[in-house]
Amino acid sequence: MKEVVLGLLGLGNIGGGVWDLIRTFGSEVETRTGVPLRVKKALVLDKRFHGGKDVPDEVLTTDKNDILEDPEIQIVCEFLGGEQPAASMMLRALENGKSVVTANKMALCLHFDELRAMAKKTGAGLYYEASVGGAIPIINAIQSPLIANHIEQIMGIVNGTTNYILTRMAAEGAEYEDVLKDAQRLGLAEPDPTADVEGFDAAYKLSILGSLAFHSRVKVENVYREGITKVSAEDIAFGREMGYVLKLLAIGKDNGDTIEARVHPVFLPADHPLARVDGSLNAVYLYGHSFKDMMLEGRGAGDAPTASAIVGDIIQAAQNAVHPMPYLQENPKPVADDWQSKYFIRMKAKDAPGVLAEVTGLLAGEGISVSAMMQKGAAPGGKATLIVITHIAPEKAVQRVVKSLNPEICQVENVIRVEA
Ligand code: HSE
Repeated sequence: MKEVVLGLLGLGNIGGGVWDLIRTFGSEVETRTGVPLRVKKALVLDKRFHGGKDVPDEVLTTDKNDILEDPEIQIVCEFLGGEQPAASMMLRALENGKSVVTANKMALCLHFDELRAMAKKTGAGLYYEASVGGAIPIINAIQSPLIANHIEQIMGIVNGTTNYILTRMAAEGAEYEDVLKDAQRLGLAEPDPTADVEGFDAAYKLSILGSLAFHSRVKVENVYREGITKVSAEDIAFGREMGYVLKLLAIGKDNGDTIEARVHPVFLPADHPLARVDGSLNAVYLYGHSFKDMMLEGRGAGDAPTASAIVGDIIQAAQNAVHPMPYLQENPKPVADDWQSKYFIRMKAKDAPGVLAEVTGLLAGEGISVSAMMQKGAAPGGKATLIVITHIAPEKAVQRVVKSLNPEICQVENVIRVEA
């Protein structure tokens, strides 16, 4: 095969990882696939700083047009991160008939429709395996080997930082703030952790996964999102006593007429396959009508795992005579703003007659049935911790109960959804 000429937009952590992988393993990839890869240009902000990689000076450029407007470059790999200028550059590359490979979930998610439309118009390829789950081939799996399925459910641990924090909180009985600080000190959480800990990163990933799995556009603004900042060591400890493990999950369900798309902390039964996915690992658990259930697990971040997925995409982009374009229904199904789940409700309640009756009375008033209950630290007249686990109930009904509890006698400290 004729040399496949690449342009890299960015040469930071991920771009550098791709450079290294092509340099060290490119000839083996060529032996296996017949695709010889050559990086012609790499865009950097300043030629003096490019992550210490051994990149020849003639490869480095500070002018995006050396990549986007060069007819010899067939595939553009975008590693800039963030929404802009990444999205505009990808759009321009596609407009010029170049296939684009990216790991940038934010730009992809916010500009999915225009990028897809441009790729369709010019016949160029748009590949983004690394945007969700890093090295885990989940995007490819949904679009190709699992295509003969009605995928009904996706549950993913798609953010390594939060999984690392929750794993350590559980192992050490530590509070969120303390583990976060330590993770930042170790370089395992960003100095500004908002995107990870508030669930934005997971919401972008769910928007992409949900759109592909359900063939219906799931816009990120319609994804319900709640991060891990309110989770306490107490929640995790009580949950464990009741047989649960806490994870931040990205959940997508196709309910027929509507889609559920939500990111929030979840208690999972300790024997659920996702419950044992610890540390910074990612995993996606899926249910499809013909394959039944399946879980893919691996490294969701880091330069080498991400480069693994990106080089895989580059090879597909080079080999495919016709680039795949996922089918999305013309009229997307609405994303539901209410859903059914079980709930773990942790309260500080006055240890006095009638308090339990007040709580269960309000639940009963909404038709919510209690599945388990636990009281700790009881002292007549004092405050006790009360945990209620409900049977399946509508989200909005549970929220109404929480709002109507009288804080003088019962303060709700946290509500965590429980999935099976
Ligand atoms: N910040 C992400 C994580 C990796 O912690 O998993 C990039 O998507």
